Amino acid sequence: MGLENVRIIELPKFLDDRGNLSFFQNCDQIPFNIKRVYWIYDVPGGEQRGGHAYKDLQEVIIALSGSFDVVLQDGNEKKVFSLNRSYYGLYVPQRVWRHMENFSTNSLAFIATDSLFDADQYIREFDLFKKLANEQ
Ligand code: TYD
Repeated sequence: MGLENVRIIELPKFLDDRGNLSFFQNCDQIPFNIKRVYWIYDVPGGEQRGGHAYKDLQEVIIALSGSFDVVLQDGNEKKVFSLNRSYYGLYVPQRVWRHMENFSTNSLAFIATDSLFDADQYIREFDLFKKLANEQ
């Protein structure tokens, strides 16, 4: 799994004069069962979050509010996805280095994953990540 499997998933949207609604549920719109969700908020201007890869964890990242960039690397190539709509989910498979930057004021990053939190899932050193990526 690498950058070639990253993709934007357009989520359903119900446009309504009373306000719009979007959703996703296990395995229908996204390619895994959700075990955990978390969100990142109140990010000060200029800060970055992320900056690691996961050994075996898939995720979907959504800008529920505001905007930010997700920078993805597989050891050789780099791709940047600017998220600014709450109905776009960015699917990121395992073994992709990712960080988030350029958070707008009041942005809200929502992440759904297929795994419970486990610190052992993290690859936090880029050099080790590149080595593992090139061994695959
Ligand atoms: P981390 O994923 O390291 O954030 P970042 O990559 O942006 O630095 O998470 C920050 C802290 O939050 C870390 O101490 C672990 C903790 N954490 C949980 O306990 N559960 C979770 O689901 C997540 C995502 C983080």
